[in-house]
Amino acid sequence: MLFSLPSALVVLCAVCCSGAALPSESLEPEKADNSDFSSLRGLSKNHKDMSGRAGDPKSKYFHESIFHPHYDGRFAMKTLPEEYQHGNLSTMMQSYLATMSAIGAETWIMHGSLLGWWWNRKIMPWDSDVDVQVSERSIKLLANYYNMTVHKYKGEDWPRAKKYLMEVNEHYSNGSTLDRMNAIDARWIDTETGLFIDITTLRRDRDAEKKGETGKLYSKDRQRFDADDIYPLRQSEFEGKPVKIPYAYTRLLEQEYSPKALTKLSHSKHDFDRKTYEWVKQTQKP
Ligand SMILES: *[C@@H]1O[C@H](CO)[C@@H](O)[C@H](O)[C@H]1NC(C)=O
Ligand SMILES: *[C@@H]1O[C@H](CO)[C@@H](O)[C@H](O)[C@H]1NC(C)=O
Ligand SMILES: *[C@@H]1O[C@H](CO)[C@@H](O)[C@H](O)[C@H]1NC(C)=O
Repeated sequence: MLFSLPSALVVLCAVCCSGAALPSESLEPEKADNSDFSSLRGLSKNHKDMSGRAGDPKSKYFHESIFHPHYDGRFAMKTLPEEYQHGNLSTMMQSYLATMSAIGAETWIMHGSLLGWWWNRKIMPWDSDVDVQVSERSIKLLANYYNMTVHKYKGEDWPRAKKYLMEVNEHYSNGSTLDRMNAIDARWIDTETGLFIDITTLRRDRDAEKKGETGKLYSKDRQRFDADDIYPLRQSEFEGKPVKIPYAYTRLLEQEYSPKALTKLSHSKHDFDRKTYEWVKQTQKP
């Protein structure tokens, strides 16, 4: 190995190797005792734990950093300079999509990421997070075989491989929306910058099914969906990589952000350039 890691963390070279070697069965990771800062030494270059663990309720599994809710404080001391954020999010998204595809976990983009996709198939420049969903079957796969695994990925427009951590919430199998502290089922974490992708599971609403209503789905963050709006997933591209998107994307986006969000050419101090298909930052008027 080229670098030292706590023995409990297993590095899977899912997609960076030529020939896209699939992680083999024998690489099934040992489970680390816990995921606190001290057990991640060797993977994190932080000299201090900047996670909000101490101030969080005991039952909360994931801890956002004390300096920004979209950073993992075990891996970063501060936010990235604004000009670096988008590039790191983009590489992280590419690494996530390529790895999930290699290990056969079904995933698709939602929320702000889907809105970015709608406009130009990219993460919006002012976004500091990425939202994805997985199926119930996929979260089980991730929990049983990939929890706390480290994946190396080299972006096409980036000179060296970076390491990403897959971490699955201990409470993922509790599907109750009352479990408010654990609405995020898993995270894909950039161990260099602390940025992460929130992964939520799309679950069958078994209570509705008991009442004879079929095709009702929900995620633990209390969002409800009709199966017909999500499935069959469509194939598209995001940040230059193949991606799946929900079937009725227009309806989902209009419900969440209003129809105007799909036509308005200025958002968050950016204007959409219809020639280049890019969001351009509005210049400050002197
Ligand atoms: C990610 O952020 C680092 C700063 O930590 C910066 O040097 C690098 O250029 C960024 N990477 C990308 C792919 O933009
Ligand atoms: C994932 O691993 C961490 C660290 O060992 C553990 O705390 C957590 O409970 C595990 N998650 C699942 C779903 O087993
Ligand atoms: C799920 O979480 C809720 C809220 O914390 C809790 O009341 C319930 O007992 C949990 N269910 C299971 C099966 O652990």
